[in-house]
Amino acid sequence: MRIAVVGSGYVGLVAGACFADLGHEVILVDNDQSKMTALRNGQVPIHEKFLPELLTRNRGTRLQFSDDLKEAVRVSAAVFVAVGTPPTESGEADLSYVESVAREISGAIDDYKVVVEKSTVPVYTSEWIRRIILRNGTDPELFDVASNPEFLREGTAVTDFLFPDRIVIGCDSSRSAEVLREIYAPLTGATYYHRAEAIPQPDRALIPPPLIVTSTKSAELIKHASNAFLAMKISFINAVASVCESVGANVNQVVHGIGTDTRIGSRFLSPGIGYGGSCFPKDVMAFRAVAREHGYDFRLLDEVMHINEDQRHRFLRKVNSALWTLRGKRLGVLGLAFKGGTDDIRESPAIAIVQSLLQQGSKITAYDPAGMERAREVIGDHITYANSSYEAAHDADALLILTEWEEFANLDLGRVRQELKYPIVIDGRNLYDPEAMAAQGFTYYSVGRATSHPDGVPAAVLKNGKKA
Ligand code: UGA
Repeated sequence: MRIAVVGSGYVGLVAGACFADLGHEVILVDNDQSKMTALRNGQVPIHEKFLPELLTRNRGTRLQFSDDLKEAVRVSAAVFVAVGTPPTESGEADLSYVESVAREISGAIDDYKVVVEKSTVPVYTSEWIRRIILRNGTDPELFDVASNPEFLREGTAVTDFLFPDRIVIGCDSSRSAEVLREIYAPLTGATYYHRAEAIPQPDRALIPPPLIVTSTKSAELIKHASNAFLAMKISFINAVASVCESVGANVNQVVHGIGTDTRIGSRFLSPGIGYGGSCFPKDVMAFRAVAREHGYDFRLLDEVMHINEDQRHRFLRKVNSALWTLRGKRLGVLGLAFKGGTDDIRESPAIAIVQSLLQQGSKITAYDPAGMERAREVIGDHITYANSSYEAAHDADALLILTEWEEFANLDLGRVRQELKYPIVIDGRNLYDPEAMAAQGFTYYSVGRATSHPDGVPAAVLKNGKKA
């Protein structure tokens, strides 16, 4: 199948590379010529596991890069639209990029094509795309608009694409459904998984993945509702963590107790400093806005957002309660990316926290395995960038853990203690066991669990935050 993918951001690039790996002929289109040249020359613009391998084996053969949208549409049977839908001031999704692509596509349709929304868009977008294409003079018999939402997590996007829990295609005609079925046949027929060069199968993979065929409107809603539900799970457990702190319970134990109920499940119940990234904050807001526009006041989502915001403030209060005033204090920060496994810092709660700490006059030395370059574009030289966790901890009044990178969960704690001026760790991601931290000589603050203190240190010393 010949496929055009419009937009070479996270979604477009991963989808394009994966479609090519499934055996399709893919043209990835973007009007950013320098990006296309860089991709052609072998550069990989994002930090994404297995993407370099996929690009290397398909680049120049089954995967081409172009800035000529019309030509790509002409030669393709399906056109996936994966351009950005950033939030407007009022929280709605800005669909102007989608509209301009729809307009451009319409001029190039000379035989039957399926135009597929891949970007996260509000319900009714497919109808608008259809109207725009018709308005520009295209014969209604020559195209259908379908919706094929993505459920890719950054960092594991390639695996999520090739080993999905489900594939959702929203189609209002059997003709368009047929095209999409064929595109995903290597996965739904499981032939892809038998190939020697297929990427490694993750735990819990459902093979073959189910294909769910819905109307386009339902598919659009599935995407928003999935992200809103996952965000709600995170806010729910963050709220429970706050109650745990008030009553002296342990949120990890609570998560274990509720997550083992198969109706609830334990995934996406990790408390922390709130969700971030380019999806949840934007999509919860956009879903809220689209519901309101269509007459439903989805107040539950207001609370999801409110709890998320509050979670950062609670963490900042913890820093204050550990260190009292912050002016002139040196803080080591581990993590700037919005989550582990990615260099993405968009809507990162870690960045928001760092900015608040800077406002309070603290001096920050931060380390992130992948996110520092991007962080520098936002924070500039207001902080110092370290080459390792230990360098970030050096001579700091406390060490803050803000991103759930695996390497932060496996630190040499003896070395961390030696580097720190005071053995205080404030962990926004619950990467360590409070008792084990106390045994290692730390005062350890985390989320939804009691603060632990170094074994055998008098309370007065602790209150002053002095070295054990
Ligand atoms: C999310 C969804 O998980 C994907 O299914 C979806 O396709 C994607 O958005 C999208 O719409 O494109 P992503 O934003 O990459 O993926 O990241 P997640 O792994 O979902 O994490 C989002 C945020 O929630 C991160 O800040 C993470 O640290 C936080 N989180 C996640 C928690 O605080 N607790 C958890 O239990 C899980």
